[in-house]
Amino acid sequence: MEIVVSGIRPTGNLHLGNYFGALKSFVKMQEENQCYFFIADYHSLTTHPIPADLHGNVKTVLVEFLACGLDPEKATLYIQSDLPETAELYLLLNMNAYIGELERCTSFKEKIRTQTDNVNAGLLTYPTLMAADIIIHRAARVPVGKDQEQHLEMTRTFANRFNRLYKVNYFPEPVAYNFGENLVKIPGLDGNLKMSKSDNENSAIYLADSAEVIRKKVMRAVTDSGPADQNKPRSQGVQNLFDLMSYFSSGETLNFFEDVYAAGSIRYGDMKKQLAEDIIRFTLPFREKMEALAADETYLRKVAKMGAEKARESASKTVREVREIIGFRQF
Ligand code: TYM
Repeated sequence: MEIVVSGIRPTGNLHLGNYFGALKSFVKMQEENQCYFFIADYHSLTTHPIPADLHGNVKTVLVEFLACGLDPEKATLYIQSDLPETAELYLLLNMNAYIGELERCTSFKEKIRTQTDNVNAGLLTYPTLMAADIIIHRAARVPVGKDQEQHLEMTRTFANRFNRLYKVNYFPEPVAYNFGENLVKIPGLDGNLKMSKSDNENSAIYLADSAEVIRKKVMRAVTDSGPADQNKPRSQGVQNLFDLMSYFSSGETLNFFEDVYAAGSIRYGDMKKQLAEDIIRFTLPFREKMEALAADETYLRKVAKMGAEKARESASKTVREVREIIGFRQF
């Protein structure tokens, strides 16, 4: 039995990338491991959400966790800000995190480019907060998508550095993990390599999207003018449609469209129609469960409270021991 930790930022509904990159593995891992899955609301502050929206965003993700099959009796489900021990460990880790390595982080460089009006210190130290989340439970595995690989690498660096600095063998070095053989990256409908929430409303399909919305988004997906030249590589948009089909459609369907593409007679409209119906079939059961869960405030409150208590048991032990190792003593 291993200790497993992972989190998702509450910045709106969860999309299919979140599901295949993370949640699907969470659901499997909870069966045989000691799992801690949390909603990363401290992290979401790096993008300055409006206070009136914060709680609703957290509730959305909690409902979606449960609808996807996370079981609060099997895994510890909690909200990051219910665990202030994380903030203390973050502070302590920041003392041994270097500006240069934080500035080199790809996600920070990306934020400097895209969030120019709000390059805050929380963005720079995002990886130390993430490391604190993980090592506060002394986790071995972290189910995530491929985009989080570098953050995990930094977590190992910080864990290792702490051990060396204080000459202890306290923190394990956690590894990124996805139940598929490789870390997953679900592509976007807008021709981007990664499905993500972005300014482009049509990039991501959310688990909560209605059939009508899914059809509309898929039909608008970026393609090209057709497989005119077989020797040319496929455009990214078209490749993305094939990749999405490999997740949601049957092998037979995928082969059919591969064959008509190879024959040069593909109609992207037909392919999109099929893909949309397959995605709708996949997401429908989640949507039904979400509606029921969202109405049950009493149950959600109970889940959050139980999770916070269980998570704090593990986190407070770590922080107590870390203080001891660092040399804090009571008078
Ligand atoms: P976040 O909230 O951006 O995404 C949550 C999870 O979804 C995965 N994901 C994807 N996987 C595959 N394909 C995609 N297109 C795709 N888009 C998103 C992400 O890899 C992630 O697993 N920093 C984290 C949150 C976090 C965390 C942690 C994760 C905070 N502390 C500790 C693990 C452990 C983040 O921003 O994920």
